[in-house]
Amino acid sequence: MKFTILTLFPEIVRAYFEASVMKRAVAAGLIEYELVNIRDYAYDRHRKCDDEVFGGGAGMLLKPEPLDRALEAAGAPSVRTIFVTPSGRLFNQRMAQDFSREERLNILCGRYEGVDQRIIDTRVTDEVSIGDYVLSSGEVAAMVVVDAIYRLRPGVISGESLEEESFASGLLEYPQYTRPAVYDTMQVPDVLTSGNHAQIARWRLKASVAKTLAYRPELLSKDNLPSEVDSILREVIDEGGWHEPGTSDPGRTGQK
Ligand code: ADE
Repeated sequence: MKFTILTLFPEIVRAYFEASVMKRAVAAGLIEYELVNIRDYAYDRHRKCDDEVFGGGAGMLLKPEPLDRALEAAGAPSVRTIFVTPSGRLFNQRMAQDFSREERLNILCGRYEGVDQRIIDTRVTDEVSIGDYVLSSGEVAAMVVVDAIYRLRPGVISGESLEEESFASGLLEYPQYTRPAVYDTMQVPDVLTSGNHAQIARWRLKASVAKTLAYRPELLSKDNLPSEVDSILREVIDEGGWHEPGTSDPGRTGQK
């Protein structure tokens, strides 16, 4: 899969592709990437890429001409082209799975107040927001989107890890522990060191349900959940819900 990132600040993005799991995926030929500096497509003397907003208002917009040329060279809109923007569709795991099936993806990073709408109308296929907050940098949002997508490609991460993580089952992931079994008087739940796989699976599902109830209750109304969830949910509620970190009060299931 090839990512083409269109940005005014390729140096922000480069480090991400040159470290850790992504670096290995690139070295293994699973992922390719190209960083396109939009300014290379601005042909005036000052290589100007932004301008004031028609109708007034604060901030500057990315001008259409350099963007149009850069996106045309990147094959947009025949190549699926994501514009990361706080006014886009809210990104989620299902969208990441959908994008991960493409062999090529363009990602356009906004700066300033945004992008001339004519470019969105003609070159962009998907407007994506990573959350209900505003970042100063589209590059950071683009990396979030790339990260969620590329790790779903075959060979990048083990299938088992993908199946167990949050959202794969529709629930938040259960708590996990490693050695030592007792740390500073805090003990790992006995069941996890018991070797009883059925009990461990049950404990994990129950912990997932309890955590989801506390932090993301809206996820529990989805109809794709494991069939045991209903009865476990009743049990969890009877027992007083999730223990928030930093408190031993089992009754606290709301916000901090
Ligand atoms: N650019 C600035 N804020 C953003 C957000 N929340 N999502 C995507 N792109 C953005």
